[in-house]
Amino acid sequence: MKRTISVAPMMDCTDRHDRYFLRLISKNVMLYSEMVATKSAIHGDRKKILSFSPEEKPLALQVGGSNKKELSEVAKIAEDMGYDEININLGCPSKKVQKNKFGACLMKEPNLVAECVNEMVNVCKIPVTAKTRIGFDDVENFDYLNNFILKIKNAGCKIFIIHARKAMLSGLSPKENLNIPKLNYEMVYKIKRENPDLEIIINGGISKIEEIKKHLKLCNGVMIGRAVYQNPYFLVDIEREIFKVKNSPSREEIAEKLLIYLEKEVNLGTKVNHIMRHTVGLYHGQIGSRNWKRYLSDNMMARDSDFQKAKHIMTIVQNNEKANQTNQ
Ligand SMILES: Cc1cc2nc3c(=O)[nH]c(=O)nc-3n(C[C@H](O)[C@H](O)[C@H](O)COP(=O)(O)O)c2cc1C
Repeated sequence: MKRTISVAPMMDCTDRHDRYFLRLISKNVMLYSEMVATKSAIHGDRKKILSFSPEEKPLALQVGGSNKKELSEVAKIAEDMGYDEININLGCPSKKVQKNKFGACLMKEPNLVAECVNEMVNVCKIPVTAKTRIGFDDVENFDYLNNFILKIKNAGCKIFIIHARKAMLSGLSPKENLNIPKLNYEMVYKIKRENPDLEIIINGGISKIEEIKKHLKLCNGVMIGRAVYQNPYFLVDIEREIFKVKNSPSREEIAEKLLIYLEKEVNLGTKVNHIMRHTVGLYHGQIGSRNWKRYLSDNMMARDSDFQKAKHIMTIVQNNEKANQTNQ
C-alpha cells in the first residue's frame, strides 16, 4: 500500500460518500476517514459510523483517544472491518477534543502516546500510523518533535503524517489553527533526514503539482486536505502528473457514475444532500461552475430532496458539458 499522495482526514467532509466520490476520480490516492472518537467507535452505531464501500479502499480509519484499552479495541475493530490502516490523531487542537484528552494536546504526553501506540500495534496487523503537528503553543523545537517521534517509533509506529505547523491549544479557533501558525516544511524534511527508516508524509498548505513534486523529493508522501475538498478534480492532475495515468474521467463521467451510487444509496435511505454536498467543487474554476453550485444549493440542500430531483442534475451536467465544448 502506497501513501505517495493521500487525502487528509477532515471532519464533516471525508465521510464515506465523499470518499466514494473521490475514488471515482482517483484510484491511486490513499483515503482517510474523519476522526472517530474511541467511545463512538466502540459503543456507537458501528454500521453508521464505521461502514464503508469496498471501492473506497485503500482506506485508513482515524481515531481520537488516549485510553490504551479503547484505542486497541478500535484498532482491532478497524482491522476486522477491513480498513487498511489505523491512524491516531495527535494534531487536532479543538477545545472539545482537548477536554476529552485527544488530538494535539497529546503532544505534551509522549509516554502516554507511546503506551497507547504499543497496545494498538500489539493487537492488529494493519499499520498503526500517527498524524501530528510540528509543535504546540510555544514549543516549536526540532529536538522536542524528534524525541516525541522516536518514543512513538520505539512503541512500534513507523509511519508519521506531519502537519507542518504547530497547534495553538488556546487563543485560536480550529479554523485559525489551520492558517495562522506558520508553515515550517524544513522541520519535517529534517525529521526525514534524521530518521531515514521512517515513512514521513508531509501535510499543510499544499495545493500545486510543482509543490507536490518538490516535497516528494524530500519526504515519502504528501497529504492534501482543503485543496482536494474545494477542487476535487485536482485529483485528475495528480493522477496524470504524479501517477502517470493517461486516461482520466471527465467531470461529466464522474457525475454520471456518482448518480448510479446516488440511486443505490437513496434506495437504502440516504439523503441526496448527504452525497451531493461533497460535489460543490466539482466544477471549480470552470465555466458553468456557478450554475452547478446554484443548482445544488437550490435542490440538493432542500429538506425534502429526493432522487427525482437529483436526476435533474444531469441537465446541469449536460449544460456544463456544452458550455465547455463551446469554450474549447
Ligand atoms: C474541515 C476540516 C476538518 C478537519 N478534520 C480533521 C480530522 O478529523 N482529523 C485530522 O487529523 N485533521 C483534520 N483536519 C486537518 C487536516 O487533516 C489537515 O491536516 C489540514 O487541513 C492541513 O492540510 P491542508 O492545508 O492540505 O488542508 C481538518 C481540516 C479541515 C479543513
